[in-house]
Amino acid sequence: MGLVNLATVLAKAQKQGYAVGAFNFINMEVLQGILDAAVEAHAPVILQTTEGAIEYAGIEYLAALARTAAGSAGIDVVLHLDHGKHLETVVQAIRHGYTSVMMDASDKTYGDNLDITKQVVRIAHMVNVSVEAELGRLKGIEDTVSVRDAQASLVDPEQAQAFARETGVDALAPAIGTSHGAFKFKGTPRLDFQRLEQVARLTGIPLVLHGASSVPAGTVKKANDYGAAIKGAAGVPDDIMKQAISKGICKINTDTDLRLSFTAGIREELTNHPEVFDLRNILGPARQAVKSMVLNRIEVFGSAGKG
Ligand code: G3H
Ligand code: 13P
Ligand code: ZN
Repeated sequence: MGLVNLATVLAKAQKQGYAVGAFNFINMEVLQGILDAAVEAHAPVILQTTEGAIEYAGIEYLAALARTAAGSAGIDVVLHLDHGKHLETVVQAIRHGYTSVMMDASDKTYGDNLDITKQVVRIAHMVNVSVEAELGRLKGIEDTVSVRDAQASLVDPEQAQAFARETGVDALAPAIGTSHGAFKFKGTPRLDFQRLEQVARLTGIPLVLHGASSVPAGTVKKANDYGAAIKGAAGVPDDIMKQAISKGICKINTDTDLRLSFTAGIREELTNHPEVFDLRNILGPARQAVKSMVLNRIEVFGSAGKG
């Protein structure tokens, strides 16, 4: 089976009330960890790369890895450009066989975001490639200095309704209080569910949660026990994630959890076996740690058995 587009997997998820995991990869081991888990759980999966990943590894390598993985997987696999900031990268991704692209112009004015997203939808839809866009700015609610600031950085539901209608995007990422990385909340984790419900009702399209890593205390502790110095880390708890899914989130972006599990795995191997320098003995267990993490996330997202 080849790659499928995002609209196809999200339509099914939206109808049945689960979310599809979208996992970032930058190399073969992380990709295989993700794929092995998705195949074992028979879950649909979105493999995604940022512009930074493309700069690091080269788009030919990343696209070829994903195509190879999807070919024998026997589950629905999407190859998605995450946070495409430039029209050139979006076109490059489409030319290399990506089946979905994100046009992230969320840091531009509403008008500019609308214009460029419309342009991307026109191009991508001609070749059956799906499009995701973002509205609002990703920032933890506590990171804003005032309530007024918080309102300004989060998505405006009525604007989202107009944006979805005018652009024809297949999926929308509304800012509702998550942020990228391992330090999402200073106090009690909280998302703006009221806003999420409004966006879901007014747009009717599948919604995406960025900055959705769970940052498990156990994984952070393992990394720290083996030499990392990660303090004050906090992610999105599973119960909050499940609530978000019940209110319209159909795609869940996860990168930090994979970075944490992969590097904790490497640290453990290097510490416990200082005599080892065969890369396979170091990266193999790290790949296994990514697989365990992805299996755990798939369970929480409710996508097991939906592949
Ligand atoms: O937005 C997703 C990532 O966690 C940031 O990834 O460092 O490859 O841009 P990046
Ligand atoms: P995390 O940093 O929470 O993993 O978010 C990843 C993400 O949103 C990628 O687009
Ligand atoms: Zn993101």
